[in-house]
Amino acid sequence: MAHLFVPGPTDVAPEILAAQTHPMIGHRSQACSDLFARIQPRLRQVLQTDHRVYITASSGSGLQEAAVRNTVAHRLLVCVGGAFAERWYEIALANGLVADRLDVAWGEPHAPEQIAEALRRGYDALALIHNETSTGVENPLPAIAKAARAAAPDTLLLVDAVSSAGGVDLRTDEWCIDVLLTSSQKCFALPPGLAFAAVSDRALERAAAIPHRGWYFDFLLLEKYVQQNNTPATPAISLLYALDAQLDRILAEGLPARFERHARMAGLAQAWAEARFALFPRAGFRSRNCWSKPTRLIWRRCHTAARPTSRGMSGTSPKRSPVSKG
Ligand SMILES: Cc1ncc(COP(=O)(O)O)c(C=O)c1O
Repeated sequence: MAHLFVPGPTDVAPEILAAQTHPMIGHRSQACSDLFARIQPRLRQVLQTDHRVYITASSGSGLQEAAVRNTVAHRLLVCVGGAFAERWYEIALANGLVADRLDVAWGEPHAPEQIAEALRRGYDALALIHNETSTGVENPLPAIAKAARAAAPDTLLLVDAVSSAGGVDLRTDEWCIDVLLTSSQKCFALPPGLAFAAVSDRALERAAAIPHRGWYFDFLLLEKYVQQNNTPATPAISLLYALDAQLDRILAEGLPARFERHARMAGLAQAWAEARFALFPRAGFRSRNCWSKPTRLIWRRCHTAARPTSRGMSGTSPKRSPVSKG
């Protein structure tokens, strides 16, 4: 077992690492289409969606870019409360999009009413990080989704669930999420290199009205190929074999049991940490997949203390926490 006390990459089970050694196949072969077809329904099950799921040979940041490029014609609202939301905002600007930001102090969650009020100004899409790994805050997604939908029914909801999907009960369709994106190296416990996006019909219709969506992450192109159980460019075939095997493991454990295990481990890790120092995220909104301590110095101490006995917990150090500045 790898002793990884970071939010991701997480430890990968030996049999999943071994699955990557499957002999190589051609990506236009029947074997590859069969592999892809086997993966799709189980991936949809884990992401709790009936929508298609695009699989890209990239990390999650690639799909942050895809989500905004494919859905924003005029204006985007980005909820910013940590480093990964900052990144999403920067990605939007780097793609020449017009984006506004709705800031909260790092360590605080976003408030549904505040988001609803901002959305009344009129936006194509709302970008929200579900689990802000840099601060350890889990935003109240069901309440935010409901408020956003009520205030601005035509605004698409884009959710980054890089450090929560597969570890937390995340009801993509029930909460009307238009793009739910995640990476392979966190709760999926796979090596890095794959990213997944569950994309609604609404989001696809929006993409069709946007002229310059790029090529590698174009939803319409990905859609054309997903219909044939394939991808436009060469997929990361070894990682697909690992995903195939890991989906079996995840579903054998069962989603409720998996979510409960994550919550229980988070409770243990947080209780351990809280007995030693103050946690950074506001109580009541603490992540079930990572936790955040106040200073780098304490991080070094807690890393050393946790190493010999703890399993599967992870910590992050917020670069811009009020405490770490001092
Ligand atoms: C919440 C969140 N969003 C986005 C990213 C970026 O994902 P990736 O490193 O897979 O590009 C991360 C990475 O840790 C993350 O935690």
